[in-house]
Amino acid sequence: MNVFITRVIPESGLRLLEEAGLKIRQWTQKRKMTRDELIEECYWADALLSAGQQLDQEFLEASKHLKIIALHSVGYDNVDIKTATRLKIPVGNTPGVLSGATADTAFLLMMAVARNAFYMNRRIINGEWGFFEPTANLGKELNGCTLGVFGLGKIGLEMAKRCKGAFGMKIIYHNRSRNIEAEQELGAELVSFEELLKQSDVITVHTALTPETDGKFDLEVFKQMKPGSIFINTARGKIHQETDLIEALESGFIWGAGLDVTSPEPMRPDNKLLFMPNVAVLPHIGSATEGTRNAMAKLAAENIIAVANGERPPFLVNPEVYSL
Ligand code: DGY
Repeated sequence: MNVFITRVIPESGLRLLEEAGLKIRQWTQKRKMTRDELIEECYWADALLSAGQQLDQEFLEASKHLKIIALHSVGYDNVDIKTATRLKIPVGNTPGVLSGATADTAFLLMMAVARNAFYMNRRIINGEWGFFEPTANLGKELNGCTLGVFGLGKIGLEMAKRCKGAFGMKIIYHNRSRNIEAEQELGAELVSFEELLKQSDVITVHTALTPETDGKFDLEVFKQMKPGSIFINTARGKIHQETDLIEALESGFIWGAGLDVTSPEPMRPDNKLLFMPNVAVLPHIGSATEGTRNAMAKLAAENIIAVANGERPPFLVNPEVYSL
């Protein structure tokens, strides 16, 4: 079986594929492939290991011979799953292994926002470390605050554990279904979306990007958040509306924001958010630790190897392809 890989991925994944006797080709240029380039490369391939590429209907129709698409991510919003399923192409992802690292990033952003950390660091770089002012640049303490988790799955649970452990935060969450583990372990309480907005001192977003969550955090929603609260998004940039977020911050409807995801990505270097005191932005590094990226590469490789062995991939997004 021939495997085409859209980015340089960790050795751990490559080794597994090689040991399984698969032939590999990798895109090594430091730019996103065009759709045509990807189609062209996939003529040779039976399996695609994809990181950071949009796999739309046109690509999928042109590549319907693929026996598996293994994503190097847990999110699959950049793949037209409906078309892949219709074409009977199994799509695999990498759930579970990046929960801790992504929650660490959400926690880091929450802390950075609460203490204006990124902004204060920039002031040193700009030569603005002036004389000591006891009343200037004061941050917020998080002890005993309420954390509102929008989408309490594996990553949300890890973030909630960190907040409970470090600051004894009360945990509330909004989900389609109850998370019994979070309720039993952390005393988390399922609330309506309106209550989540009203009660939370920090709202942290850990849901997938779907038609329901696309643009969910708009000005009307920010206005309903508790005055002085903090908004954190490490899920997908499209879940908040950026111009509305800027207005909410400027109007003081919310106090601060921490983002690991933006729309578009990359964010332009002159984006207003980058210059606001109570805002911290990172370039989508949620899963960027050595251990996590190795684990993701291994899971993606395991999905491909299963198909090469005539088995079902262990981490499937569209299991219904096997019952069509
Ligand atoms: C994921 O796995 O979905 C992360 O956001 C990295 O893209």
